[in-house]
Amino acid sequence: MNGSTMHLPIAELHLHLEGTLEPEFILEAAARNGVELPWTSLADLRSRYDFTDLQSFLDLLYTNLEVLQTSRDFEQMTRDYLRRASAGGVRHAEVSFDAQAHLLRGIPLEVVLTGIHAALDAGESEFGITSKLIVSFWRDRPASEAVEILQGLIDSDARIDGIGLDSAEVGYPPALFVELYDLARSHGLHVVAHAGEEGPAQNVADSLDLLKVERIDHGNNCLDDERLVARMVAERVPMTVCPLSNVRLRTIDTLARHPLPVMLEKGLFISINSDDPAYFGGYADANVAAVTEQFALDDATLELLARNSVDASFLDAAGKARLHGEIDDWVRSR
Ligand code: HPA
Ligand code: ZN
Repeated sequence: MNGSTMHLPIAELHLHLEGTLEPEFILEAAARNGVELPWTSLADLRSRYDFTDLQSFLDLLYTNLEVLQTSRDFEQMTRDYLRRASAGGVRHAEVSFDAQAHLLRGIPLEVVLTGIHAALDAGESEFGITSKLIVSFWRDRPASEAVEILQGLIDSDARIDGIGLDSAEVGYPPALFVELYDLARSHGLHVVAHAGEEGPAQNVADSLDLLKVERIDHGNNCLDDERLVARMVAERVPMTVCPLSNVRLRTIDTLARHPLPVMLEKGLFISINSDDPAYFGGYADANVAAVTEQFALDDATLELLARNSVDASFLDAAGKARLHGEIDDWVRSR
């Protein structure tokens, strides 16, 4: 295949399914389900995407996701994501949804999981994407609530692969969630957490020490602590970096000031991800393209980022080998 037409094959490891709802989908589902939103036109909705910080984005995300009512909605959301992601080179996706976002408005997690699984199960034959599912908990809700929800999922043998922690970071440190993560790990679930996005480097260190996470989502602010960076390099802690998210949530001023080159130079174990692609200006391929152009990344760097995404995934050895083979093909095609 010609190098200009073959997308870099990657694993996407940081993706909120609710953050894939495109404006058209939101208005369609609202009409279909009789959900009243504060906006009724695409133009009005589109004018709301100018964020000042994480919370200003979360407010819009959490309002829009109320259109998700039936298993069909969750299935359509997930299938739309898989279609877009596969068109951009994603070959394996470890996607998350927010448990409380649905439970607290009366949608049983069975409805959520039925829809998401229907799409993920078909993802391999329909789009050539394998997947894992991560349940994320809102850190600005009581930890006991998260423990109760996770226990319910475990008791009902729900098909989940891991847990995560997201929503407002500042003021909700990892120490609050030790019991939740102990419970998850004791049941063989994978564990990840957002940390160091708006919060301090200490949240990254505490996520490793107290929650024993296998990956850090974002993690940018670890750069404020040289010793922590050295540790993360030595221990090869994966970080799921989301460049366009960082710009749109103003954790950095402009893409030109993104710390990606510093992260690479220090040898941090990073991959490129889209976070909430419908809100931040693009899917994984758009994120890869943006940093490739901004920093004139060469093929060797792109290959490294792709291999990192595979190695940081929760795929087994055979699954990783298959994706490394696809990356080999990409290298040969250049
Ligand atoms: N940070 C915290 N919570 C989130 C994010 C994020 O980037 N995206 C969706 N929920
Ligand atoms: Zn995120």
